[in-house]
Amino acid sequence: MPQLFTPRSNGIARLLIAAALVLIIGGTAAVLMLNTSPYNTGQHAVVAQPVPFSHRHHVGELGIRCGYCHTSFERSAFAGLPDTATCMTCHSQLWTNADVLAPVRESLAQNKPLRWSRVHDLPDYVYFSHQAHVNNGVGCESCHGRVDQMPLTRQAKPLTMRWCLECHRDPGPHLRAEQQITTMGYPHSKAASQASAVQLLKEYNIRTERMTECVTCHR
Ligand code: HEC
Ligand code: HEC
Ligand code: HEC
Ligand code: HEC
Ligand code: HEC
Repeated sequence: MPQLFTPRSNGIARLLIAAALVLIIGGTAAVLMLNTSPYNTGQHAVVAQPVPFSHRHHVGELGIRCGYCHTSFERSAFAGLPDTATCMTCHSQLWTNADVLAPVRESLAQNKPLRWSRVHDLPDYVYFSHQAHVNNGVGCESCHGRVDQMPLTRQAKPLTMRWCLECHRDPGPHLRAEQQITTMGYPHSKAASQASAVQLLKEYNIRTERMTECVTCHR
């Protein structure tokens, strides 16, 4: 094997290789950080909506249950969004002249659905299902945060693959009893969690082996 570098150029070459490595690693890290920065994942951003709907008001203060408006989370991949009639059960009598509700009244009069913009939106190559989670002990709060405190809806979690996997590797401590799925401010207490994690994994019959396989989320 012929010598590639003389001792002198060897030093320079090492330096160049080292510099290149720093650039590559640094550059990759920067790209990765950019990829998972809230700007890129859409975390925390507020999205423009036809009506400035407030969960803080309707859920936090009025106490309306999630299922009243998101009717399909237990039996479908999609949680679903409320139609105009759902708003009108109350707003045909309450705040009937409010300007902010004009688009709702128009939607009813013209029989055109309100077009809510998506706050959460996974890429098409990712498979996700609400049913699979809420029927297996994962509460809305684990993925959507304190919705009951949001004047405008925000994406509370990064929704990156790493974030999904953090739970899929060790779901036990994130689980809760069936009656608590929509509860906000649920205390996942550290002390109780060890025993209850094992208990809940068994109750829901969760098999963690399959949960980190690529085909679970990419099919
Ligand atoms: C009175 C009706 C109503 C109730 C009750 C309600 N929501 Fe909503 N929700 C809406 C409407 C309307 C939107 C669409 C506008 C928006 O994003 O704010 C929405 C949007 C959302 C979104 C964002 C959807 C997206 O585009 O990604 C989440 C998450 C959500 N709701 C969770 C909840 C949870 C959790 C509860 C119960 C704690 C709840 N909602 C209760 C009406 C309701
Ligand atoms: C169960 C009854 C009920 C339903 C269903 C309901 N609302 Fe309301 N909404 C209220 C009440 C009560 C108020 C507050 C009136 C007040 O502050 O005096 C309100 C207030 C509002 C306001 C005024 C701003 C605010 O939040 O303070 C908007 C906008 C609004 N609702 C939009 C909607 C939309 C859109 C829907 C359907 C997705 C909806 N509401 C469904 C009861 C309801
Ligand atoms: C394991 C995490 C997780 C849990 C638990 C969860 N969600 Fe979601 N939710 C998501 C993700 C991720 C999306 C975006 C889905 C997409 O883009 O395909 C979403 C989207 C939504 C939407 C937008 C409409 C739709 O169906 O895509 C609503 C509304 C919603 N969630 C409400 C809820 C409610 C209410 C609960 C509890 C009963 C809940 N979610 C539980 C992760 C979760
Ligand atoms: C807080 C915990 C948690 C988070 C976060 C979470 N999951 Fe899950 N996921 C679970 C549990 C628990 C199950 C049920 C496993 C079982 O059925 O044995 C599950 C099951 C699934 C399934 C299996 C559905 C089926 O029918 O086989 C898919 C797909 C999935 N999750 C996708 C995702 C994606 C994509 C994300 C991120 C956007 C995510 N999950 C985030 C806990 C979580
Ligand atoms: C629990 C769900 C889940 C599992 C399991 C999973 N992924 Fe993903 N994956 C996601 C989500 C969500 C995204 C989109 C968000 C993101 O890019 O972080 C994604 C994105 C990707 C991307 C695109 C990354 C990019 O930067 O554009 C690739 C490639 C990928 N996954 C490969 C894999 C491979 C290979 C496996 C198996 C070793 C795997 N995934 C297992 C949820 C999952």
